[in-house]
Amino acid sequence: MKQRATFNSKLGLVMAAVGSAVGLGNIWRFPCEAGEHGGGAFLIVYIFCVIILGFVVMLAEFFLGRASQSNTVGAFKVLAPNTMWKIIGYNGVLAAFLIFGFYSVVSGWTLEYIYQSAAGNLNANSIEEFVINFGSFQSDIFRPILWVLIFTLITHFVVLSGVKKGIERASKIMMPVLFVILIALCIRSLMLPNAIEGLKFFFNPDFSKITSTVVLSALGQAFFSLSVGMGCMITYASYFNKSINIPNTAVSVVTLDTLIAILAGVIIFPAVTSFGISPSQGPQLVFITLPNIFQQMPLGNLWSFIFFVLLAIAALTSIISLHEVVTAYLHEQYKMSRRKAATIVSASGFTLGIICSLSFGVLSRFKIFGSTIFDLLDFITANLMLPLGGMFICIFIGWFVDKQVLKAELTNNGTLKFKLFSVFVFLIKYVAPIIIALVCVNELGLF
Ligand code: PHE
Repeated sequence: MKQRATFNSKLGLVMAAVGSAVGLGNIWRFPCEAGEHGGGAFLIVYIFCVIILGFVVMLAEFFLGRASQSNTVGAFKVLAPNTMWKIIGYNGVLAAFLIFGFYSVVSGWTLEYIYQSAAGNLNANSIEEFVINFGSFQSDIFRPILWVLIFTLITHFVVLSGVKKGIERASKIMMPVLFVILIALCIRSLMLPNAIEGLKFFFNPDFSKITSTVVLSALGQAFFSLSVGMGCMITYASYFNKSINIPNTAVSVVTLDTLIAILAGVIIFPAVTSFGISPSQGPQLVFITLPNIFQQMPLGNLWSFIFFVLLAIAALTSIISLHEVVTAYLHEQYKMSRRKAATIVSASGFTLGIICSLSFGVLSRFKIFGSTIFDLLDFITANLMLPLGGMFICIFIGWFVDKQVLKAELTNNGTLKFKLFSVFVFLIKYVAPIIIALVCVNELGLF
C-alpha cells in the first residue's frame, strides 16, 4: 500500500492545525458575533464552550483521524464499518463545502483591502465615508467576484502542491508574524481616546444579556473558530505521525486560537467606542473599524497593507483546510487523482462563492427564512451543522469506541501520560452531548 503523506515536523504540524483554526473566524467573525450578542456576556459563554466542548471535540477528532489514517468519511468507515456513523462524515464534508463558499467571499474582501492600501487609497474623511465605500464595493458585481476567483486559484495551487510543501510551509512562517502584528495593533488601539469604554463592553459581562441565542451563537462560534465539528481536524490528524502527543497538540491549538480571538476583540472594541460606531454592525465591522485605526497611525497605509496581507494568509491557511477536507474525501473515497478532486472542489466552490458574493448586491433581496444566502450559509453551518456534528462525534466516541483503543491512541500506546483521561471520557460521554443537545433544542423551541 502507498504510504500516506505525513507532516514533517512537530512544529509544522501544530502550525498547520493552528493555521486551520486561526483565520477570519477569529479576526472577522468573532468580534462581529461578540458585538451583536452583548460583548462580555458572549465572551464568558464563548470561553466556557471552548474549554468544555470545543477542546473535547478536537481531541476526539484527532483520535479519529490518527487512528483511522483516513479522511472525514473514511474515518467512520474504518472505525465502524457498515454502519450509519459515516453520516457524520458526510455532514462534515458538506459543511466544509458550504463554509468554503462564504469564506472565500470574505477572503476576497481582504484582497481588495490589500490592493487599496498598496494604492494608498484607504482613506476617508469620516467614518460614514468608510461605511459607504465598503458598502459600494461589497454590492458591486464584478470586483468582489474577481477577488473570490483569485483567492480560489491561490488555494487551489497550494492544495495541489500537497501536504508538506504547501500547507505546512505556508503555516509555519506566517502564523508567528501575524501574532506580532496583532500585538502592535492592540497597543495602538488601547491608546485611542475612549478605549476604556470598549474594554468594558468586551470584558464586563452583563449576565442579564445571556439568552439562548447568545449561547447558541457562542457555541457555534467556538466550533467554527476551532475548525471542529466537521472533520477538518480528522483530516489533518490523519497526516499526524504516531509519535505526536495528541493532548498537548490540542491544548496548543485551542490556547493560541482563543488568544488570537481575544486579541482581535481588544483591537476592535476600543476602536468601536472611540470612533462612535455601533458594535453590532455585522459583517462589515472589521472592514470599517480597522481602516479607521490605520488612518490615524503614522504610515497608516503601510500598516494596513501588512495587516491585510497577514489576514489574507490566515484566511488562506484556513480555507486550505476546508478545501482539503473535500479534496481528501473525493480523492480517497472515489479513487480519483488529487488533481481532479481538487479541480472539482475549486470549480464548485467558486460557483458557490459567486452566489454568496452577489447576496450583498443584486441578490440581496432574495431571502430564505428572512436571511440572505450568505447569512443563511453562515448560520446553518456554524450554528447547526458544526454543533450537531460535534455532538454526534462525542456520542460515537463516548458510547461506541472501545475505551482501551481510545486510551492507547491518545497516550501513544501508554508511552505518554494523560492524567485527565477519565475526566475526558466523562465529558465526552455525558456532558458535551447533553449540553449541545439542550442548546440546540432550546433554540429551536424558541423559533
Ligand atoms: N477556523 C477557521 C477560522 O477561524 C474557519 C474554519 C472553520 C476552518 C471550519 C475550517 C473548518 O477562520
